[in-house]
Order: sequence, then structure tokens, then C-alpha cells
Amino acid sequence: MRIVLLGAPGSGKGTQSQWLVGRFHIPQVSTGDLLRAAVANGTALGLKAKEAMAAGRLVDDQIVLGMIRERLAEPDTGQGFILDGFPRNLAQARALDELLAQIGQPLDAVVQLKVDYAELSRRIAGRRTCSDCGRVVNLLTSAPQALAAERCPKTGQAHRLFQRPDDNEATVAERLRVYEAQTQPLVEYYRQQNLLRSIDAEGEVTEVSARLEQVLAR
Ligand code: AP5
Ligand code: MG
Repeated sequence: MRIVLLGAPGSGKGTQSQWLVGRFHIPQVSTGDLLRAAVANGTALGLKAKEAMAAGRLVDDQIVLGMIRERLAEPDTGQGFILDGFPRNLAQARALDELLAQIGQPLDAVVQLKVDYAELSRRIAGRRTCSDCGRVVNLLTSAPQALAAERCPKTGQAHRLFQRPDDNEATVAERLRVYEAQTQPLVEYYRQQNLLRSIDAEGEVTEVSARLEQVLAR
């Protein structure tokens, strides 16, 4: 299955991708995660991407497309993949169509995760990530005792949680603005291709996963 998850910052693309990985045994391809790894490793690509990410702007299309081309050439994507955070504008969507046509692997579905603006801001404010295993949690929605009791699978200790540097108020406002201006038009683009499935992505994570499964079965 080849899927795109489309949604604003904080809509749950990463969270639902993780569920899909377990459910369908296909890899998550997150351009945000790939870019953050490049920044953390101080690669040439990371150095180019760093400033745009910190400001909440999109990283240059050519950089992102190069990354996607390389990632989709890896053998684990042969049975399918979940694209999380890509494509993000019309140029990227058209380039993806071209690339997938070349390798004879067209998309099966594009799922739009719909979440209200106030809920997006709330989720982003509470998001924390474990610096060892990468698990994403939310301080506002998880029970504090349950979170404290959880052991990191990498260290066997409590998670070492950090806040993403682009999750500050000013950058989040810009990311949401960029989503509206550049990414939202993809909803119409994929509707015209008859690939779009929209779901209400509010409520419990498990409820959203169930809705996701339902629209993918169509
Ligand atoms: P990216 O990493 O893709 O960030 P984003 O799109 O802003 O999305 P987020 O990761 O913030 O949110 P998410 O939808 O994954 O939500 P999550 O599951 O974590 O991109 C970052 C930057 O990289 C961009 O700004 C850009 O600079 C660059 N970039 C990336 N891709 C690019 C591209 N293609 N082209 C150019 N530049 C690119 O959930 C959020 C929180 O909510 C978590 O705490 C989670 O636990 C919680 N949560 C999830 N679901 C629920 C629920 N149902 N109920 C309650 N809480 C929930
Ligand atoms: Mg994400």
C-alpha cells in the first residue's frame, strides 16, 4: 500500500504513521524526520535545511526531492510506504507523481487528517520526543504517572524528553501559515485524482486509527 498522510502541523501524521507501520508492515518516510537527522548529523544537506526549518518555512524542493528519490530507491519500500509530511506543495506533488510513474508504483490513497486550529496548537505545545528512542508523547494528554513509569526501549531508563526547537510559538504560527498557503491546495489536487480520503483526526489516537483503517479499506 502506498499512502500519503496530509495534514497540518500537529494533526497526527507521525502518530498515525507509527500505527500504520505496525498494521501494514510498510515503512514510514517522514521528510521532517529525515531533515532533522541531517541537521543533527551536521551534513551538508542539514546545514542547508537548518535555517528554513528553524523559521518554519519549507526546505528547498530540490533538497527534499533528492532525499525522497534516494529513500524510495531502498528495498524496504518495495511493498509500499507511508509518506509523512511529503509532498507539501504542488511542485513536490507533481514531482512525486512523475517519480512514482517512472517506477510503476502509483499512490493508492491520500488521507487528509482534519484537526481544528485550537487543537493543533494545544497538541504542539504539549509534544515531547525521547532523545534516545524517538517516541513522541504529549504532556497534556498522557497521564503523568503512566509517562513516568514508561521505560525507554533503548536505555531501559525513563525517557529523556525534549521539545522540538520548531515547536515555539512564532515558528508554529509560520508553519501553520505555510500549511494553509502551500500544502492545503493539495487537497483539491488529490481530490481531482480521486485519491483523497478525509477523516476527522480529533478524538483518541485509537479512534483516529480506526477511521484511518476504514477509509483505507474502501
Ligand atoms: P514535519 O516534521 O513534517 O512537521 P509538521 O508537518 O509541522 O508536523 P508535525 O510533525 O509537527 O506534526 P504531526 O502531524 O506529525 O503530529 P504528531 O503525530 O507529532 O516538518 C518540520 C519541518 O521540516 C517543516 O516546517 C519544514 O521546514 C521541513 N519539511 C518537512 N517536510 C518538508 C517537505 N516535504 N518540503 C519542505 N520542507 C519540509 O502529533 C502532535 C502531538 O499531538 C504529539 O504530541 C502527539 O502525541 C499528539 N497527538 C497525536 N494524535 C493525537 C490525538 N488523536 N489526540 C491527542 N493528541 C494527539
Ligand atoms: Mg511529524
